[in-house]
Order: sequence, then structure tokens, then C-alpha cells
Amino acid sequence: MGSSFGRCFRLTTFGESHGRAVGAVVEGCPAGLELSERDVQAELDRRRPGQSAVTTRRAEEDRVEILSGVFEGRTTGAPIAMVVYNRSFNSAPYEVVRRVPRPGHADLSYRLKYGHWDYRGGGRASGRETIARVAGGAVAKRLLSLIGVEVLGHTLEIAGVRAGRVEVEHLRRAESTSVRCADPEAARLMEERILEAKSQGDSVGGVVEVVALNVPPGLGEPVFDKLDADIAKAMMSIGAVKGVEIGSGFACARMRGSEHNDAFYLDGGRVRCRSNNSGGVLGGISTGMPIVVRVAVKPTPSISREQESVDLEEMRGTSIRVEGMHDPCIVPRIVPVCEAMLALTLADHAIRAGVINPCRVHPL
Ligand SMILES: Cc1cc2nc3c(=O)[nH]c(=O)nc-3n(C[C@H](O)[C@H](O)[C@H](O)COP(=O)(O)O)c2cc1C
Repeated sequence: MGSSFGRCFRLTTFGESHGRAVGAVVEGCPAGLELSERDVQAELDRRRPGQSAVTTRRAEEDRVEILSGVFEGRTTGAPIAMVVYNRSFNSAPYEVVRRVPRPGHADLSYRLKYGHWDYRGGGRASGRETIARVAGGAVAKRLLSLIGVEVLGHTLEIAGVRAGRVEVEHLRRAESTSVRCADPEAARLMEERILEAKSQGDSVGGVVEVVALNVPPGLGEPVFDKLDADIAKAMMSIGAVKGVEIGSGFACARMRGSEHNDAFYLDGGRVRCRSNNSGGVLGGISTGMPIVVRVAVKPTPSISREQESVDLEEMRGTSIRVEGMHDPCIVPRIVPVCEAMLALTLADHAIRAGVINPCRVHPL
């Protein structure tokens, strides 16, 4: 079912939205890395709903337990299993989607492919699956911090409102707004647009930007395992993500070579780029410039407005009005998920490139 990601640093996720639990198994994390439930919980708390007026009021506490792979506060090199029990859910509103699929969600395709599947709360296709990604990403972030790599995400656009230019050093400000946007005026407008859509029983989408700083040159493998190819796969594997750009992205199609090429210069013996249209990757290999990724997120499919659908038991046309608590905009909550997926990809490639020792983080 494609539940694993990564080659040397590998995340496997398990669990369904309304099943007993969701969780992650991380394989390939070297021994000796300091890791606690608190480290993982801090990242999970950023993904949790119910944090502001623009997210759903669903009460999900999402307490993580580390079951294995950590001894005396450090990883042992063994698989790290992490679990979050599902404690607060109501499956009743989902009975209908078994036979009447929600437009825009995965109900139809799961039914056509598997016939028998856990449709409650969206099952494996629920946003709750991303708890496991964020937990795995927390481990990857800690590992990357050993080589000075930092991964930061923020909201660039929601419902057509775009943030003004934000300097990298100000990106952390994004955490203080309800929509995770570092431009306070744009954040206010974004919140307005989300609440407006919500009051109309509708939803909106947007764009998330994720940046990785201090990435060493040399991560990524020619030909099929290019760093940008793996980043694109990582991001596209997140539910509701419909597009990925690296560096200048689609804008490159309208630029000239003289504009798009990032000129090189020497900075204390290191080659640097004057601009970063390549988004920190050339030929699929990191150059040492920041990795810059943008992700297009679609409007939340579950909306309370009446929509056309079909009854697959009676094979007739019908309509559906989705009940339950859904975010009118997924963008703010997807930011930590995108950070996690970038961190997982970079950790995997850092081990593959020999930048991080696969066995232990400290020499003997
Ligand atoms: C963090 C997160 C939260 C989500 N929350 C919801 C939600 O509340 N309601 C909903 O209908 N979809 C939600 N989604 C989106 C669905 O999971 C996604 O649209 C669905 O799996 C279909 O996949 P696709 O959009 O990639 O085709 C969420 C996704 C993520 C990543």
C-alpha cells in the first residue's frame, strides 16, 4: 500500500483515522541521538486542530508514546516505534460516505480499488495519517540539527491573498499568527477569507513554502533519485497537495536563461549563488544554497454545502452534505507536515551521501 518512505532513513506509517491508533516506525536512525517524547510532542502540537478560529474545533489531544528504539534518552539504532491513540471521534457522520462518496475526497477511489476499506473519518486518507509523518519528521529534524540543517515552513498564500516578501530571518514569526503567515497584514486578510468561506459552508486552499537552511552540498543522487525528484514525491504524497515547485518553479517557463541562471561567486573560498532560482538543487544534487519548496494545497474537500454525488449501492444520482468537523482551510495545519516531509527526505539523503554516519551520531 506504499506506506513507507525513504531508503536509508525510512518512515513507515500505520493506523486509521477512527481506528485504535495512528503511528510511525522510523528505521535507519543512527544510535546516540538524544530524543524524547517531548521533542516529538512539540511538533505534533503544531499540527493539532483546535488551535484557532480557522481550524476545526475537533478535540484531538494527540499524545505521543515512544514504544521502542530509545534507551536512556538516546536512540539505539533500532526501529523507533511511536504511537498516538485515537481518543475523540464520532464515526456516525461517515456511514453515508460508504455508499455516497464525498466529491474531492478519497472515498470513491478507495471503494473502486479495495471494495472493503475503513472509511470512518477518511481512514488512511485522513489528515490524521500525517500525525505519523510529523512524528517521523521530528526525529529527522533532530538528526539534521547535528549538521546544522534547519527546516522552516510558512504560509505564503491563502484564498488568493499572498504574503509580502519575507526575509528568511523573519520566517519564525509565522508561528505567532493563526494562519502561520509571517506577514501580519496578509495573515489578517487570510483569516477573514477563511472565515468568510466557512460561513458559506465552503473552503479555501493556498500555498505553503518550506525552506531548508545550511544544507551541505552533495545531497541527492543522479539519475532517478535526484534530491528535487524525491522532495517532489515527498510533498505530493501529502493529502490535498496538488502542486510542487522548487526554486523559481513554474515561473522559470517565462524567464530567459540570463535571468534564470544563478551566477556564481566566491565567498571565502566557497562557491555561492547570487540568486536562488534553482532552489538549492542543480542536477538533482544540493549546491549548499537554501532548498526552497512551494506546495499548492487544495481547498478542503469536506464542505457542508450540498454537492452532487452518486449512491453506489442503488446506482443512482443523489446529493451529499458533509457533516462532521472539518477545517475550512488545511493550509496552516499542513505547514508542519511539509516541514516533516522535507526533513525526512534530507535526512535520508544525508545518510546516503555519508554526511551523517548511519550507525552512530558520536564517534567511539
Ligand atoms: C493535515 C491535513 C488535514 C486535513 N484535514 C481534512 C479535513 O478536515 N477534511 C477533509 O475533507 N480533508 C482533509 N484533508 C485532506 C484529505 O486528506 C485529502 O484531500 C484526501 O485524502 C484526498 O486526497 P487528495 O486531495 O490528495 O486527492 C486534510 C489533509 C491534511 C494533510
